[in-house]
Amino acid sequence: MTPPAQGERLTIEVDMVDLMRVRGGNPLRGEITVRGAKNFVAKAMVAALLGETPSVLRNVPLIRDVDVVAGLLRLHGVAVDYDDAGGVLQFDSSNVEIAHVRDIDAHAGSSRIPILFCGPLLHRLGEAFIPDLGGCHIGDRPIDYHLRILRDFGAVVDKQERGIHITAPRGLTGTKIELPYPSVGATEQTLLTAVRAAGKTQLKNAAIEPEIMDLIAVLQKMGAVISVDTDRVIRIEGVDRLTGYVHTSLPDRIEAASWASAALATSGDIYVRGAQQPDMMTYLNTFRKVGGVFEIDDEGIRFLHPGGELNSIVIETDVHPGFMTDWQQPLVVALTQARGLSIVHETVYENRFGFTEALNGMGAQIQVYRECLGQLECRFGQRNFYHSAAISGPTKLTAAEIVVPDLRGGFSHLIAALAAEGTSLVRGIEQINRGYEHFMRKLAALGADVEMV
Ligand code: EPZ
Repeated sequence: MTPPAQGERLTIEVDMVDLMRVRGGNPLRGEITVRGAKNFVAKAMVAALLGETPSVLRNVPLIRDVDVVAGLLRLHGVAVDYDDAGGVLQFDSSNVEIAHVRDIDAHAGSSRIPILFCGPLLHRLGEAFIPDLGGCHIGDRPIDYHLRILRDFGAVVDKQERGIHITAPRGLTGTKIELPYPSVGATEQTLLTAVRAAGKTQLKNAAIEPEIMDLIAVLQKMGAVISVDTDRVIRIEGVDRLTGYVHTSLPDRIEAASWASAALATSGDIYVRGAQQPDMMTYLNTFRKVGGVFEIDDEGIRFLHPGGELNSIVIETDVHPGFMTDWQQPLVVALTQARGLSIVHETVYENRFGFTEALNGMGAQIQVYRECLGQLECRFGQRNFYHSAAISGPTKLTAAEIVVPDLRGGFSHLIAALAAEGTSLVRGIEQINRGYEHFMRKLAALGADVEMV
């Protein structure tokens, strides 16, 4: 492995477009490939920091989170080499070193992943500086669980103007943690810190998403001792040393579902190579109830609109194995084409319906409510969050000028523009680029009439 020169950014070419003209009204038809899961690969990259020998991560997508994390790893002395064609990342963390705050600061606001560097850097260096975080504006996105967890392990957290300086004067010791909510990030924070802490750690009310289970698989390959009980309790026994790993990422079930919803919304037919049924069971049930048809083979899943009317339904998002919050935004666009009144109760994020305003401007009829429209216990009831939506349809969508609000909302706007009659202008495409690799090429492969402006 020949790591690029020190300080050279990993040059990942991405479709750097910001304004796109979209001529709508044509069904999306054809085949696309999804590679590794955005919400796993970045965490597996951070885990490589803990390995005292080289690691290899396969099926890595060409997305901005990979670039951001690769840049941060390299700042800390990790050699990172990325082969886009093969989707293979190689790391050598044999000599991790302190990075300069001003260099780390350059990555501030770019992603939520940097907060997960805390545990590994404390184990390797005894201290860390973490820049202020970024990520989608779909709620407050606090990190209180993360900071409480790090303090429970014995870290000293010093909030500074542009980030967090963290040390572990007495080292890190295993502890008992119970999460107020099964947070994915807080579970990852615990895993990445506990594996090298002295003694045992118990994590109650943990997240158990497939991406979490894949991270546990990576850590086990590195030498960690981790068990997951039926009652969402994860137990970790700290070890003295971790080696590198070789691992192939699970596919991106969020991207696969995004294209499936695009097929429904545009009366299309899309084969998603790489999609796997086990991680998408709940989505597939919903897709079928709305009236979509899917065909599963060993290499992927075909999603199609069989013609005729779509059915309105009630959806409540939840943690795994419930209906994933990241699946709801693209599906809402398809529900604008379903006959009757559909209800979506978003119980994971308090503010994830901002994207519906632009859809209403295109002719959709979506009303958002502060009430919990569903049975699930929810943290947002009787507070001032519009976290339930009613979608009445079918409604004819017409072209508009759209500004992308966030990653999944932006993809939903794109689907709406593709489903609408007329020519739309979609601004802020770069945000979609963060989580959907080569999506301009994928749109072209599906016959979408789009062009950079
Ligand atoms: C991860 O975000 C994903 N992002 C999100 O995907 C995904 O929607 C989310 O998990 C839930 O599955 C990545 O993995 C990079 P959480 P994360 O901690 O870890 C509250 C996408 O589009 N909370 O599970 O940040 C939080 O406010 C993105 O790909 C606290 O209150 O999510 C939320 O209400 C969007 N304090 C709930 O927990 C904390 O310290 C779930 O958040 C942390 C979280």
